Amino acid sequence: MSYIELCAPCGFGLEAILSREIKDLGFEVSKVEDGRVYFLSDESGIAKANLWLRTGERVLVKIGEFYATSFEELFQQTKGLPWHEWIPKAGSFPAAKAASVKSKLFSTSDIQSIVKKAVVESLKMKYNVNWFSETGATYPIHIFVFKDQVTLYLDSTGMALHKRGYREIGSAAPIRETLAATMISLTPWKEGRLLVDPFCGSGTIPIEAALKGLNIAPGLKRDFIAEKWSRIPQKIWDRERQEAEDKIITSQDIHIQGYDIDEKVIKVARSNAKKAGVEEYIHFQQRDVRDFSSKDKYGFIVTNPPYGERLDDIKTVEKLYADMGKVFSSLDNWSYYIITAHEEFERFFGKKADKKRKLYNGMMKTDFYQYFGPKPPKNDVIKL
Ligand SMILES: C[S@@+](CC[C@H](N)C(=O)[O-])C[C@H]1O[C@@H](n2cnc3c(N)ncnc32)[C@H](O)[C@@H]1O
Repeated sequence: MSYIELCAPCGFGLEAILSREIKDLGFEVSKVEDGRVYFLSDESGIAKANLWLRTGERVLVKIGEFYATSFEELFQQTKGLPWHEWIPKAGSFPAAKAASVKSKLFSTSDIQSIVKKAVVESLKMKYNVNWFSETGATYPIHIFVFKDQVTLYLDSTGMALHKRGYREIGSAAPIRETLAATMISLTPWKEGRLLVDPFCGSGTIPIEAALKGLNIAPGLKRDFIAEKWSRIPQKIWDRERQEAEDKIITSQDIHIQGYDIDEKVIKVARSNAKKAGVEEYIHFQQRDVRDFSSKDKYGFIVTNPPYGERLDDIKTVEKLYADMGKVFSSLDNWSYYIITAHEEFERFFGKKADKKRKLYNGMMKTDFYQYFGPKPPKNDVIKL
C-alpha cells in the first residue's frame, strides 16, 4: 500500500502531547519537529485525524520537500512534484499560506506566486490544457521553508481544527480549544472524578473536558475542506463519522462544573455546551471564585484566570490570585492546574507549584502551574 505522509502543526511545546494523541489513534509517527508532528496514513487517516485530533491545528498532506536557495530552484522542484495525484483538472489550488524561517528565500509573497506558477505548469503538462477554471473543490497549498528546506503541503482541514463548531459567540478572552484540550490532557482527570473551572468564561475548558470524557470526536460537528476532494470517497467520510458516533460513551459518571463572576458569559457557556452536545454533563453557574467551596474531598481545578494584560488591571488580578490562593488552600486534597501569563503568579497565589510547564496561548507565552493533590481512594463518592 502506498502511504501518505501527513503533518499536524501545533502550538510550540505541545508536540509530545500531540504525538501521543496521534499514536493513540493508531498512526505511526514518522517525525517530530518544533510545532509539527508528521505521521503516516492512507486516505481514511485524513478523515480520522481531522475528526479526532484534539490538540493539533490542522491536517496537512505532504506533497514533497527539497532544498532551494533560488526562485528558479523553487520553481523547477515544485513543478516536478506529483500535484495531479491530488488536484483534479477543475480543482482550485490557491497558494494559501507560506512561512519562511532562517532561509535565503524569505519573501513569502514571492514564494507563494512562484509556487502557484509552478503548480499551474505541472498540471498543464498532466492535463494537456492551457488554463484552469479552478471552479471545483479547493486544495489550499501550504509552504514551509526552514533553513532552505522547502516543504509543500495541501491543507485537508480548511478552518483550523480549534474551531470545533460549538463556539459561535465568544466571551472577551476565550482560550483556544486546542490549548484547553492540552491542559486537560496534562492532568490525570478522567470520568468519575470532579472537574471544576472557576473562571470558565465561554466554557471552553469544561466543554473540552466533557468531549474527552465522553469520547466525542471534537470535529464531529463541523466539516473539512477534504470532504470535497475526489481522491477521498464520500464513503470513507461516512464510515469514519459513523465510527466516531459509535465510540461516544453515554456515561452517568461525568462531573464537571463551570463558574464565572459574569452572568452574561455563563449564558454563552451554556449555549456553547448545548451546541457541543454536552450541556447535560456540565453545571454552569454565576459565582465569584471567592465564594467557591465544595463538599467533595477530592477534585480537580483546571482553569484560566484573568492575566491582567492592561496595566490598570494588574493590581486587581494580583489581589485576585491572592484570594484564589486562600480559597484553594481550604480544598485540602484537591489538585489544581492554572494557566496564566503573569510571571509572578506563584508569589501572589502564595504557593509554589509542584510542576510548571511553558505553553503558548497563540503567540503569548504562558505557564501552566500544576499543584498535585493526593490520589483519592477507590471508593470515593462524589457528593456535589
Ligand atoms: C481569561 S477569562 C477565561 C476564558 C475562558 N477560559 C474561555 O475560554 O472563555 C477569565 C474569566 O474570569 C472571570 N472572572 C474574573 N474575576 C472573577 C472572579 N472573581 N470570580 C470568578 N470569575 C472571575 C472573567 O469574567 C472571565 O470570564
